[in-house]
Amino acid sequence: MDVPGFAVVTGAASGIGRATAAAFALEGAAGVALLDINPHALNDIKREIEQALANGKNKTNPCRLEIHPLDVSDEDQVNAALDAIAQSFGRLDYVVNAAGIAMKHSGGAAFVQTPDWQRILDVNLNGTFFVLRAAARIMLEQAPIPSSARDGRPLQRGSIVNFASIQGVVGIALSTAYAATKHAVIGLTRTASEDYAKDGLRINAICPGYTETPLTMKDPQVFAAMQERVVSAVPMQRIGRPEEIADGVLYLAGGRSSFVTGSALMVDGGYTCR
Ligand SMILES: NC(=O)c1ccc[n+]([C@@H]2O[C@H](COP(=O)([O-])OP(=O)(O)OC[C@H]3O[C@@H](n4cnc5c(N)ncnc54)[C@H](O)[C@@H]3O)[C@@H](O)[C@H]2O)c1
Repeated sequence: MDVPGFAVVTGAASGIGRATAAAFALEGAAGVALLDINPHALNDIKREIEQALANGKNKTNPCRLEIHPLDVSDEDQVNAALDAIAQSFGRLDYVVNAAGIAMKHSGGAAFVQTPDWQRILDVNLNGTFFVLRAAARIMLEQAPIPSSARDGRPLQRGSIVNFASIQGVVGIALSTAYAATKHAVIGLTRTASEDYAKDGLRINAICPGYTETPLTMKDPQVFAAMQERVVSAVPMQRIGRPEEIADGVLYLAGGRSSFVTGSALMVDGGYTCR
């Protein structure tokens, strides 16, 4: 996947962020910083990745793992964490914004509670922006590096992958705040990618479809409704696995996507092609 550099993953304690952090480590990243609001789960996933590295084919991979508990909706915490990681690793090559929360609003847009609306915007949109801003400031200052493909591709200064969703391009009932934030993440990705395309800093979004993670499985009613919907609305007629989304993230982050910026990659079993 051409990800030999240093990665930062938010939302790394669960679901897709967790699978993404593990994938970077197992695909040869020099270091992975795991960020999440849940410190206990961060410790568990770090141990899990260390174990996977020890059991893996490439036992000599010296991948450095760091954990940084933080709330992405707090800009001071975000700035401090990203500065500390850049100091410790020496540079930031791939920054993945996977932290996110979701909620259905009973009764739809007319009945959304303002605190619910605000919290979802704070985490999904402001959090993504704070991490993107802190990462871009650091990446713009660092020297660009060649792709490990070594085929003469232009140098890459850094790569940021934001998490949108199928709800970044379509609406789903009762998802007022969530769908609004995911549409906004695609807008943020497009405008920021324009700002730095010429500087070797690429910014893309990934749009997962229904994926088996605690976000979708912890509420049995939500999970049952999703399973029903999958049969009629997803051409592949199945739910995705976190590892399948992580593969899309690594493609967008690494040197193999050297001519891709400002894109929104659908990884959704065909949901949005209908
Ligand atoms: N699972 C799906 O079907 C699906 C579909 C489309 C998009 N997504 C998006 O993928 C991303 C990952 O979702 P997931 O399904 O793995 O969810 P998840 O609930 O399994 O993981 C989300 C992680 O984000 C962390 N987090 C939440 N608020 C935070 C905050 N303020 N600061 C730091 N960390 C915080 C949580 O602790 C958790 O570890 C999210 O952005 C989500 O919107 C998921």
